[in-house]
Amino acid sequence: MPDAIAYGGDWNPEQWPEETWGQDVALMREAGVNRVSVGIFSWSLLEPAEGVFDFAALDRAMDLLAANGIKANLATPTASPPPWFGDAYPHALPVDADGRRLAHGSRQGFCPSSPIYREKALRIAEQVGLRYRDHPALAMWHIHNEYGCHNARCYCDTSAAAFRAWLRSHYATLDALNEAWGTAFWSQRYGEWAQILPPRATPSLPNPGQQLDFRRFSSDALVELYIAERDLLKQLAPDVPATTNLMAGAHWDMDCWAFAAEMDVVSTDHYLIGARPEPHIDLAFAADYARSLNGGRPWLLMEHSTSAVNWQPRNRAKAPGELRRNSMSHLARGADGIMFFQWRASRAGAEKWHSAMLPHAGTNTKIWREVTALGAELAGLAGVAGSTVHADVAILVDHSSVWAQDHPAQPSSEMDPVEEAKRWHAALWRAGITCDLAHPEGDLTGYRLVLVPALYLVSDSGAANLAAFVRRGGVALVGPYSGIVDEHDRVRLGGYPGAWRDLLGVTVEEFFPLDGPIELASGWSGSVWSEVAHATGAKVLDTYVTGEPAWTRNEWGDGFAHYLTTRLDDGALAEVLAAVTAEAGASPAAEAPAGVEVVRRSHADGRSYLFAINHTGEDAVVTPRGGGPVTVAAGDVRVIPA
Ligand code: GLA
Repeated sequence: MPDAIAYGGDWNPEQWPEETWGQDVALMREAGVNRVSVGIFSWSLLEPAEGVFDFAALDRAMDLLAANGIKANLATPTASPPPWFGDAYPHALPVDADGRRLAHGSRQGFCPSSPIYREKALRIAEQVGLRYRDHPALAMWHIHNEYGCHNARCYCDTSAAAFRAWLRSHYATLDALNEAWGTAFWSQRYGEWAQILPPRATPSLPNPGQQLDFRRFSSDALVELYIAERDLLKQLAPDVPATTNLMAGAHWDMDCWAFAAEMDVVSTDHYLIGARPEPHIDLAFAADYARSLNGGRPWLLMEHSTSAVNWQPRNRAKAPGELRRNSMSHLARGADGIMFFQWRASRAGAEKWHSAMLPHAGTNTKIWREVTALGAELAGLAGVAGSTVHADVAILVDHSSVWAQDHPAQPSSEMDPVEEAKRWHAALWRAGITCDLAHPEGDLTGYRLVLVPALYLVSDSGAANLAAFVRRGGVALVGPYSGIVDEHDRVRLGGYPGAWRDLLGVTVEEFFPLDGPIELASGWSGSVWSEVAHATGAKVLDTYVTGEPAWTRNEWGDGFAHYLTTRLDDGALAEVLAAVTAEAGASPAAEAPAGVEVVRRSHADGRSYLFAINHTGEDAVVTPRGGGPVTVAAGDVRVIPA
């Protein structure tokens, strides 16, 4: 069991003259830093020319950390091949859907299917592994960095060949592929494997099955690269944990479930999106996702920011106290490590306007004071490490479904599955109810309520999984345009939603996308979407003013399955969620006023910590279940042990 919360950030000593390093570690100690990520973008330093290795500087940096009792997530530097790589192997640079080959000079400049990239990446990873596997500063391997952040899909000829190999292994015969992709439509029938291409720019709409499989293939290609590096490092150092930093909840190109299954501990990065009205709720979604990806076990926040980032149109600096509240939300939701990009703000380079733990202005700053205060606070919360978060509620999310719904020809482009999942999650956040995210085919035992806000695509086994959950006594709430297609994006016939008609006791004959609000008999309203549905067994709980069902509830085995045929407005959604959470017996961690986040972390022996995070400008009174009222001052955080 860990005995401390990991605290620190990316340390990039290669950006600075070595005289600075001593000051770095002294300030790290002052700030309570016990963990840094090292070497992420150091390939051109470690291998300045092809096959020429120089580890002297990294040796000194690692030794300095060890001497100061600071541990390292040591990276393999494979996220940024040096210029010599692009220069020597231009065919290994990525190509976009329009056929443009991208140049080196940024980062992630490689085709994920390139054999030569893989060879060079594994060679430098091996060198790192061999050299540092026994180093006293080594805590874990940080493999690559944010796989697929910039090169998630490559459309070059090498990728085309790899895509065909992937298809062959999945379909075995061309007949099966033609059937799955519906290639009879628009005369797309393939007579030879060699005719199949990545979905490059075409005159009109791409084939949906081709597009979906290409997304799957592209994600798998990156997972394979991760596995190749991990296996190599595991051979060299079987006991050193391996991770890579996901972008859970923010970036949907890589299948997080597939990556997570290969990690010793899930780590992720999260950045506030300034344009969101309540970015701290989006943060909670990402944190809940990371915890769920790690099977409920403590996870690592590999990066977030102390203040502004540099990649949004307007980069808002954090208000006083926001850094602490953000960090404590991640901690509350199961993180055992709170880390930042990056330790010292860069003087030059593409991210020089990104905040850091140590800002350009130095230590007499709001950021530095908050960084050191947080370090001290986390040291005092060491007892939290290893505890877990229990959730009665799960929201189903699946990357394949998001990818399939991304095809441009949809009944309404306004049905956004990610935003809808986040909106339902936000409604629970406001009700103080902690929820997990779950894969449709994942283990649902242990939940009381499963929410399906927007799952357009579901496999047969995913469909059966939800039905079995309800049959055993669970409660489900399914949103519109869910359970519509099979795993190849082919319509499930006979009335929508084909996957769950029986479970829901409803059949839908036609979709009616909306360009304005729609009124319900209850006085609630919906928007974006409506359906002509018929109850075939379900009880109708609400209707449109025209009389068709808007909200239904079906008894199924020992449980209940609810269905919504419209995208309910926020207020109505909150009321429906209150009804189903009550029906399922899911309750909040504490009574708290609006804008106050409450989450409990518990140890197996019963010790627990209630986190109460006041995101408002008013003092608030929080009442834990079975406890007395506690005041949480405006903008403050209280961690209440029990
Ligand atoms: C990601 C990357 C970092 C940095 C930050 C900036 O998290 O991993 O290298 O680019 O974004 O926000």
